[in-house]
Amino acid sequence: MNLKEMVGNKAAEFVKDGMVVGLGTGSTAYYMVEAVGKRVKEDGLSITGVTTSHRTTEHAEKLGIPLKDINDVDKIDVTIDGADEISDDYQGIKGGGGAHLFEKMVANQSDEVIWIVDNSKLVHKLGAFPLPVEVVKFGCQQVFRLFEEKDMKPSFRKDDSDEFYLTDSGNYIIDLHLEQIDNPHELAKWLDSLTGVVEHGLFLDCVTKVIVGTENGPEVKE
Ligand code: 5RP
Repeated sequence: MNLKEMVGNKAAEFVKDGMVVGLGTGSTAYYMVEAVGKRVKEDGLSITGVTTSHRTTEHAEKLGIPLKDINDVDKIDVTIDGADEISDDYQGIKGGGGAHLFEKMVANQSDEVIWIVDNSKLVHKLGAFPLPVEVVKFGCQQVFRLFEEKDMKPSFRKDDSDEFYLTDSGNYIIDLHLEQIDNPHELAKWLDSLTGVVEHGLFLDCVTKVIVGTENGPEVKE
């Protein structure tokens, strides 16, 4: 079993009957969705899923997991999602899969947020992974130039056909190649203040549990 599958399976154990469950996006979250789907099908687990991307919606529907739109739930009991980097103080970068807008909205409504990662995602400080910033198309070159002026080494994300990558909301993503982020809260506040920025991939003070895949098995950190 690979490490992603190991943590996906472990995380599914935290899902209980009757819960509203935020279903994350990405190659690690994929295994958690599989494991939750298996429990729904084989054990009669009764849950409602709230998905964080069109990809996860398709996957969950195929597995027969009952879903609701985020607009139709009062709150979410637990959200399980992957992450691109997690620092020593449990701050995170997400959005490598371009889904960080919906992922953050779902996480913000959740009583508990569990991140599932293999141990390669644990870092001392954030920033080696390019920080995704979702921007509206209108005026995106101005935002890009501002990042250039600030020496934030921006690049527009492209898809496999070398076209601008489009998010589920039809926006673009600018990745910032910062190498090291010394003050994530200050950076998040500044990005939040920019007109044209829809959402960035800094997920700060939001995780309640991290499940790390190691050669010796899954480690649960709270
Ligand atoms: C998608 C995400 C993913 O959770 C993150 O990129 C981790 O993905 P993976 O498990 O495939 O490494 O934030 O927007």
